[in-house]
Amino acid sequence: MKFETKCVHTGVHKDQQYNSVITPIYPSSTFYFNDLESTSGYDYTRSGNPTRDALNENLAALEGGVGCVTTSSGMSAVHCAMSLFNPGDHIVVPADVYGGTFRLIDQFLREKGLSFTFVDMTDLSAVSAAMQSSTKGVWIETPSNPMMKVIDLAAVVEIAKQQDVLTICDNTFLSPYLQRPLEFGVDVIVHSTTKYINGHSDVVGGAVIAKEKEIADRTAWLCNALGLACSPFDAWLVLRGVKTLGCRIEAQQKSAMKIARFLESHSLVERVYYPGLESHPQHELAKQQQDGFGAMLSFDVKDGRTVAENVCMNSKLYDVGVSLGGIESLISFPVTMSHAAMSPEGRKAAGITDNTVRISVGLEHSDDLITDLKQALES
Ligand SMILES: Cc1ncc(COP(=O)(O)O)c(C=O)c1O
Repeated sequence: MKFETKCVHTGVHKDQQYNSVITPIYPSSTFYFNDLESTSGYDYTRSGNPTRDALNENLAALEGGVGCVTTSSGMSAVHCAMSLFNPGDHIVVPADVYGGTFRLIDQFLREKGLSFTFVDMTDLSAVSAAMQSSTKGVWIETPSNPMMKVIDLAAVVEIAKQQDVLTICDNTFLSPYLQRPLEFGVDVIVHSTTKYINGHSDVVGGAVIAKEKEIADRTAWLCNALGLACSPFDAWLVLRGVKTLGCRIEAQQKSAMKIARFLESHSLVERVYYPGLESHPQHELAKQQQDGFGAMLSFDVKDGRTVAENVCMNSKLYDVGVSLGGIESLISFPVTMSHAAMSPEGRKAAGITDNTVRISVGLEHSDDLITDLKQALES
């Protein structure tokens, strides 16, 4: 089946009694036994639930994995994947990893005995240099937030595999519609399904998808033991959202390309960060490993912080907000919002300036989005 067909059909038929076309929500916390030893396949919803299994099957198929667990948030998915490691293990991480992942590493996982080296993963020699004898994992996130740096998946996997190290990719920014890291040899995928996979800004959720059965079994065990699974109702909402993933992203990235070109030609804009532009440093790499350029972009305005702040506040169609990947366009100022917890030095190292604005392009008409951005820039 092609991708869009899998989105609509995989896993959904769970109603053998009435043949409903849509997966029912089974909110039951517990399932009665047939006798003292056998069940219908489910006994307790933390451990397993038919609605959640429908979503698990769907997302595993979209990423090309053998198993998936869906969790209560993207961060619980990150926690689940990080729990594959043991005290003493060393993990290589991108310097501009998502802020919540950074916080978990910096203020929790380090205390539990894991160690980390942060590197600019666009520099492959830095990745090689960061590998130690105790390295057990390489964490990848591409494109990065908010500077849209693209990491070479195949090359990083090759470095990791020289030491038989587990590779994990946070694929939130592109979704499996545009990038399937397992095809490049990555072992585990993490998602914040809050973003494109659900796509409607009405659920916080996550997923962990594994390429091999052994890791899929381990993540399923962790999800049950740590109590990370999402509720049946949230699973149902995400399953409804994922059915339109392909057509949503097609429309959103088409508008993103137009907006990026508009911004690049505007006299008040210094620089646009969008992998679809020829001016993007990893444009060729993005063309090779992605099936499209996505709907996230950032830009630096020319005249300083006040202008950047005003662009955000003067826009009428773009809601000022964190998060991304929904059907409504969002605009954000990373310095005070998504990257406020980062030190000024850290932001500088990541390339985030006081002039940087980030946009998540939604499903509004691109003409309206451009007209609004123009007036916000010029007012
Ligand atoms: C790349 C990335 N990974 C993980 C997360 C965490 O997801 P959640 O907010 O659903 O916990 C986010 C949230 O913004 C994200 O952008």
